[in-house]
Order: sequence, then structure tokens, then C-alpha cells
Amino acid sequence: MSPAHPLPKPQLQDAALDLLRWYIEMGADEAVGTEPVNRLVPPRIPEAAAAARPTARTPAPRSIAASPPAALSESAGEAPQSARRLAAGVETLDALAAAVAAFEGCALKRTATNTVFADGNPKAAVMIIGEGPGADEDRIGRPFVGRAGQLLDRMLAAIGLDRNSVLITNVVYWRPPGNRTPTAAEIASCLPFVLRHITLVRPQALVLCGGTAAGALLARGQGITRLRGRWFDLGVPGLDQPVPTLPMFHPSFLLRTPERKREAWHDLLVLRARLDELGLNNRKQE
Ligand code: URA
Repeated sequence: MSPAHPLPKPQLQDAALDLLRWYIEMGADEAVGTEPVNRLVPPRIPEAAAAARPTARTPAPRSIAASPPAALSESAGEAPQSARRLAAGVETLDALAAAVAAFEGCALKRTATNTVFADGNPKAAVMIIGEGPGADEDRIGRPFVGRAGQLLDRMLAAIGLDRNSVLITNVVYWRPPGNRTPTAAEIASCLPFVLRHITLVRPQALVLCGGTAAGALLARGQGITRLRGRWFDLGVPGLDQPVPTLPMFHPSFLLRTPERKREAWHDLLVLRARLDELGLNNRKQE
């Protein structure tokens, strides 16, 4: 016989459903492991690590196994610093992708399935930066592959571009749970890699999709509605010329608000005009 429970079965089911709904509203909409984890119970410390625990006389080095993974315990201030150090040390896109994949300083990595680094042509003249991976991107490991990505592809096609004539990435490399907006600390921990990415690609035009990307890179304190459709000069460490940068509405916003597509079309024409001025039919000439 099952143990008696204070609630009758139908009420118990309702309570369980309410709890599940609440989890989803809070952004916990996906199982990230096969076993449940009770985070209220203190973690078991391996014997060797317990023996090496700091005492008053022997301060422990920061990376002992008793601590959480070193970088995940870093404060918001340390993660960007270590990202800057790592990013500054890479000279190729492959090395940058490897450094991002190995980076433990962004808490989003704990709940993500895949690191989503980039898609498209690293030699393209146009680089596009979005907000962050969604569920489809997290599953597949490539940016902009879901509904928003399909709309982005159609938008690019309308001005003669495709994934072979652009390089696409995001301001964070891991999916924020429940597709929430990444926090300032999460963005700050990834930003040095994003800037290094721009330096290595040297795009002739940079497109920022949505307010999060525009806020992270332009830091103008203005919303996307004010920023979109105008060129800004973005100074990037390691580049002697500023990068012409065009903020635009995010395709996810356009899916929710199709009446704003008219403005997005204007912005796409602004981009096309700049590429024509530069004599770029689509792909960057080597
Ligand atoms: N939205 C983004 O900003 N980036 C993606 O990769 C997918 C959706």
C-alpha cells in the first residue's frame, strides 16, 4: 500500500501541475540531467579533497576539488577578466571557438546542452550578432536555426545574402533557461570573446539583432527602437578602423510584431546600400 498523503489524489495532481507551471514560468522548462538533484543537501566532498580543505594555517589554492568548478564560482568581476585574458591569447577562429567551448566563467553553461559559437562564412563581409541561443540552437549547437533563424534567412535572402555571405554569432554562447534575456553579468563574461571574434573576422559591416546585442556592444543606453536603422562606428580593440555597425530589430521580435517588418525592411535596404557602396556583391573577396 502506498503511504497515506495529506492531499487526496486529484488535489495532489493539481498541486503537482501548479508546481510544474511555476517552474516553467521561472524558466526551468527543461530537464538538464537524468537524475533529480536536491540542491538543498550539501554536496559530498571527495575524501582527498576533504583532506586538502583549507585550515586557518594552510590556505587552499582556489582550484581544489572541494570547491565548485573554479570559474563557476568566480564573481561577476573575475569572469570577464579571465575571458579577456583567454581571448587576447588566441590568434585564430578555431582557437577562439576552442577557448569559448572550454570557458567555465559563464553560469549559463551549466544548464545548456551545447556551446553555440557561430555559423556562416568566417570570411564574410557582414557579421551578425544576436542575443543568445534558444532551445533549437541549444539542441543543434548552431545559432539562428529555429523560427527566428528561418525568418533571418528570409530577411537576408531579400537583399541577396545567405549563410555563405554572412557570419552569425550571439552575445552569449549558451542558452539562457526559458529563453530569458541574458543578464549583464552573463553578457560581460562572454563579451571579450565576442569582441575578439569581431577583431579576427574584421567585418566590413556589423549587424546587431535586437536590443540586447545593441545594448551590449554600443552601450548607448537607448532602446532598439531608437537605435535601429542608423550606422554607428564601433571601436574594437585590435582594429585600427571602427567597424560600421547597424542595429536592427531582432527576428523574434518581428515574429511577435509583424507590423514592424516595414521598419526592418528599411534597415535591410540600408545594409544593402552600404554593401553596394563598398562594391560588395555578397562575399568578401580574398
Ligand atoms: N535568437 C538569437 O538571438 N540567437 C539565436 O541564435 C537564436 C535566436
